[in-house]
Amino acid sequence: MHNITKIGVYTSGGDAPGMNAAVRAVVRTAMFYKIEVVGIQMGYRGMLEKRFIPMQSQSVSKIINRGGTILQTSRCPEFEDFEYRKTAYDNIKAEGIDALVVIGGDGSFRGAMALESEQDIPIVGVPATIDNDIYGTDFTIGFDTAINTAMEAIDKIRDTAQSHNIVFFVEVMGRDAGFIGLNTGIATGAEVTLVPEIITDIESLCYYLVAERRKNKTSGIIIVSEGGPMGSAAEVASQVQQRIPDYDTRVTTLGHIQRGGSPTCNDRVLASILGYEAVGALLDNHTGVMVGRSQGKITLTPFGEACSKHNKIDHSLYEITKILSV
Ligand code: F6P
Repeated sequence: MHNITKIGVYTSGGDAPGMNAAVRAVVRTAMFYKIEVVGIQMGYRGMLEKRFIPMQSQSVSKIINRGGTILQTSRCPEFEDFEYRKTAYDNIKAEGIDALVVIGGDGSFRGAMALESEQDIPIVGVPATIDNDIYGTDFTIGFDTAINTAMEAIDKIRDTAQSHNIVFFVEVMGRDAGFIGLNTGIATGAEVTLVPEIITDIESLCYYLVAERRKNKTSGIIIVSEGGPMGSAAEVASQVQQRIPDYDTRVTTLGHIQRGGSPTCNDRVLASILGYEAVGALLDNHTGVMVGRSQGKITLTPFGEACSKHNKIDHSLYEITKILSV
């Protein structure tokens, strides 16, 4: 049983809108329980470089609506090495930190899992990634904002696609998960949606596009989720162009715009709940787990499961996109 007097909170991996709302919730919940909080800047790198900043209630004023993360984040490959993790632990202990809240995705949880199993420090995770690929929660913080950002961008692309009779190949993020692709595909009425989980070959894609043209559809949106077997949007477009040379095509990669911006109401609420619950879980002596929300209920999932199992896309949604995009 740990007596928790000082919590360290950090954001790690790719940033996600709503991380600030989660930091705010952790700080304010800890304050409520009279526990001190230290912000660790730049995730695991900050532990190695002793980037510790004391946080009070006012430190997190007016950040609930801000994108990015005020604590900053990083990817820190050194953390895969035991010696670096030991140094990080020594630095944390010297700072008087006796528990950690990690806000991030599966890479961040893998780091936390290693640290927690080797050293005497309780750690609880809060799932935040635009990819929505973490097992143990219906939604990750940042996903809702990312799909809304992508949807608005694709709507704009649709305007110009229609005006010029162009077929646009639009690449969305998601690493190797198709949640962003699938949801934006439905929401924008994309003609084709490619996701990594469902194999489509170039011949069937071209066959479909030619059939569409016969129906006098001369413009279109093809969403290409990154991580798919046919490659990037540029690669898919070039393969289509080789087979259907009279097609006028363009490629847009939405890129990091999907990670930025003010979080939606859903993301702010989810982040506030999970940040609050993370502190509660530590006080209830939980460690090595991620707090999530499934079917409206708070869940605790061991880091190992959260990282390895991955959320699965709903294949029926894929069927719906196909039926509705005729
Ligand atoms: O995990 C979030 C994410 O934005 C993925 O969707 C994407 O594949 C990756 O991070 C991009 O990472 P980076 O910004 O390091 O290129």
